[in-house]
Amino acid sequence: MQEIATERVISPARNIQGSLRLPGDKSISHRYALLAGLAEGVTRLTNFSTGADCASSLGCVSGLGARVEHKEDGVIEITGTGGHFRPSTEPLDCGNSGSTMRMLSGLLAAQTGRFTLVGDASLSRRPMERIRKPLEQMGARLELTEGHAPVRIDGAPLKGIDYATPIPSAQVKTAVLFAGMQAQGTTTVHEAVRTRDHGELALRAFSATLERSRDAVSIAGGQELRGIEAAVPGDISSAAFFLCAAVLFPDSNLIFDALGLNPTRATLLDVLTALGGHIGVLNLEEKHGELVGTVQVNAPPQGLSGTTISGALAAQLIDELPVLAAIGPYTQSGIRIRDAKELRVKESDRIALVAANLRAMGAEVEEFEDGLDVPGGQTLHGATIDSGGDHRIAMAFAVAALRAKGETLIRGAEAAAISFPEFFDLLESVAER
Ligand code: S3P
Repeated sequence: MQEIATERVISPARNIQGSLRLPGDKSISHRYALLAGLAEGVTRLTNFSTGADCASSLGCVSGLGARVEHKEDGVIEITGTGGHFRPSTEPLDCGNSGSTMRMLSGLLAAQTGRFTLVGDASLSRRPMERIRKPLEQMGARLELTEGHAPVRIDGAPLKGIDYATPIPSAQVKTAVLFAGMQAQGTTTVHEAVRTRDHGELALRAFSATLERSRDAVSIAGGQELRGIEAAVPGDISSAAFFLCAAVLFPDSNLIFDALGLNPTRATLLDVLTALGGHIGVLNLEEKHGELVGTVQVNAPPQGLSGTTISGALAAQLIDELPVLAAIGPYTQSGIRIRDAKELRVKESDRIALVAANLRAMGAEVEEFEDGLDVPGGQTLHGATIDSGGDHRIAMAFAVAALRAKGETLIRGAEAAAISFPEFFDLLESVAER
């Protein structure tokens, strides 16, 4: 679906106040949708992500023979294919979603037939070699186009492998586990940095068994999945924009209900605490292995300090780095980011776009191959921002705009709908002027 290009004007705010219940986590929604499509029986999901990316996952499983129905009260019902996807004559459209393309490839690698996965212009530039390697080692055949999509997969009976991910990637880990669950023998994925574990938790929720050690996860092959009923926790990476907005204003008070707090995703809360923010967590519950709770955020009266994000932290905070960099000028000693080269191969080159847009707002910023130095103590002015069609850039600069002098125009604001269509309306509902 082609969104019509839209612009949004963001005026400076005085304060952030309110209570939010956010749509379901994108990473969890993808995994539930994909596994539901392959499982035996019916899966019922509430609070499924409203983003276009997760709709791509639903579209793909529907193209592979699963029945996807949108019921009342936002319930999504998926009737799975009982372990056998129907070969699709049409290419499977993954839209803008790298998660769909990479993780679905893992499921398709073991299925009978030939499948073609395509994506939009941005997704067609993103690296796919990282999934080709392990899935071919397992016995499938993947044909790429100069390392990118379209991806052509010839599924085959697979054998389990031992695989160490060369760069931290939860998508690659999940793709290998999704293939491993259908292989002969055991598959083990070793990772140097513990990336988000929603794939492991989702597999368990759908009745698979796997074993986790300190730096590896193993799954036995030949396992069958059974459908589930689940409420998807609110997306903490969407909350990140509001959390970062709230800590900019001394009188702000923001509460999130039913927010996903999986420890492999909640690093931002530690960083905001280190910057001086006050974060309270209440009503913690576990649902299908995922932690869910209420979060309250207040800003430090003395303003935010500053920090360096590098090493494992950079990998764990990868989706939150654009917004952290965007609020960097408003901290006292700045935000320094290193070991985040992966940002260059996301939906856009996020290092280049963050630097260009911060400069457009009058900030001083230094760009590195693997990160950024954003000095603190700066005053920004309103400017025209180019989202580059990247949802997280559009939203990060809407947050930076709240503390700038004058209005900011976000070009390509429609990109927010990739993960969070409600973003701009919710921002207006909590921003006090
Ligand atoms: C995701 C993993 C990360 C992240 C992406 C979602 C996931 O990508 O940036 O938004 O759901 O597994 P990588 O696996 O490329 O690091």
